[in-house]
Amino acid sequence: MTIVRHLAEGDRERVAHLQKQAFVLPPERVAIAGNYPLEQGWVVEDAGTVQGALRVQKLRQFFGGRGVPCAAVSSVKVAAEARGGGYGGALLRHVLEALRSEGVAVSTLFPVHGGVYRRYGWEFAFAYLRRSLPIAELAWRPPPEAEAGAGGVTVGPVHDDEFDEVAAWYRDRAAGENGLFDRDEAWWEERLLAPRFGRTPYRYVARSGGSVCGYMLYTHEPASGVMPYGFDLDCRDFYWDGPAALAALLHFVRSHTGMGQRLVWPGPPGDPVELVLTGIAPTVARRMAGMFRLVDVPAALAARGYPEGLEAELRLCIEDDVLPANAGPIAVRIADGRARVSGPARDGASAGPADRGGRSAPRVDVRTLAALYTGQLNADTAARAGLLPGVDADTRRTLRAAFAGPVPWMAEFF
Ligand SMILES: CC(C)(COP(=O)(O)OP(=O)(O)OC[C@H]1O[C@@H](n2cnc3c(N)ncnc32)[C@H](O)[C@@H]1OP(=O)(O)O)[C@@H](O)C(=O)NCCC(=O)NCCS
Repeated sequence: MTIVRHLAEGDRERVAHLQKQAFVLPPERVAIAGNYPLEQGWVVEDAGTVQGALRVQKLRQFFGGRGVPCAAVSSVKVAAEARGGGYGGALLRHVLEALRSEGVAVSTLFPVHGGVYRRYGWEFAFAYLRRSLPIAELAWRPPPEAEAGAGGVTVGPVHDDEFDEVAAWYRDRAAGENGLFDRDEAWWEERLLAPRFGRTPYRYVARSGGSVCGYMLYTHEPASGVMPYGFDLDCRDFYWDGPAALAALLHFVRSHTGMGQRLVWPGPPGDPVELVLTGIAPTVARRMAGMFRLVDVPAALAARGYPEGLEAELRLCIEDDVLPANAGPIAVRIADGRARVSGPARDGASAGPADRGGRSAPRVDVRTLAALYTGQLNADTAARAGLLPGVDADTRRTLRAAFAGPVPWMAEFF
């Protein structure tokens, strides 16, 4: 019999084996495989044998300026000999139901197989982008005098006792974007600061008048095809606020010319760095499409922020073939940057205002709504692709206005 349950101590060796079989991992991540906290792990077992596993890390993801309770799903794998037999699907379905009952509103992941996750309600809904540029070619618009401030911007190493200040600055900065994580300490440690292939990131902070105005975390990655010991300056994080901060960080990067071959950094699809560069244009070194799921549709709509000044009402009938609790009519009233959501009805009970005419409200699949929610998909584009049949122009206008904002992106691959 197939059962899905939390990871137990006795599963660790088997899960680490499945992990190593499914992925080529840096040595440091082999050590983590199967060794994360038990409550983060889920396994699918049949006749006493663990056939598959995944990991869930709970944190918040920023949308519209507010942190939405999120489950970051990773390390999904099924034993090579058992694939295609329904174990992966059983695992995803069970974990989604458990997460919903635990108060998780949304879920995000990087897929290898888009089809499998779409089958379970995730949709492509944000990008992970890394751009690259030869360091020797770095040239940029000088910042306006007034921006540079009296003492200018300084760039220096982040000392251990300064790190909390940098992390708090990241948090403020990330809240202004869509899709970035509100990182907790464990996420910082494992995903940003830990060594990978033996390389621990350098940490540098930009300050203006003593206050943080940017920072970068980067490793020196071996650069191929150049002199021995050459490296690419490979950023895990590259954040700045204002042209003077960016100029100071770029100046610091350019001081690596010689051994330093290329600057590689993560950024949003419309990266403002491109607006400041005046020399050779950056190329995209890597692009990964990320997927997103509304695990609890009403909770997800109520938890995010909305554009200031927008007053609107949406009536939709949600379709969700995996989580029936999401399915049915909802009414969303948006005012003062927040949404009040009613519906869907449970067990035939009234959903209040959502039920009045709700069943005839335009039908929206939970996947399409996920991509609209992050802001990656525009409602008119969705309609053109046939994803919003029966949704009238007024509703499309409201969807566009409600989910307007910075294009969603993710700074870290996990
Ligand atoms: C990806 C993986 C975990 C899926 O597990 P699995 O046990 O083979 O998957 P299942 O047999 O349960 O199939 C899952 C569902 O996805 C569907 N599916 C599979 N491939 C699909 C595709 N390309 N398009 C649409 N649906 C697809 C299946 O039909 C099934 O749907 P169902 O539940 O309605 O029957 C497994 O193949 C694996 O371990 N691959 C190697 C590691 C890996 O790539 N992990 C993913 C990291 S993101």
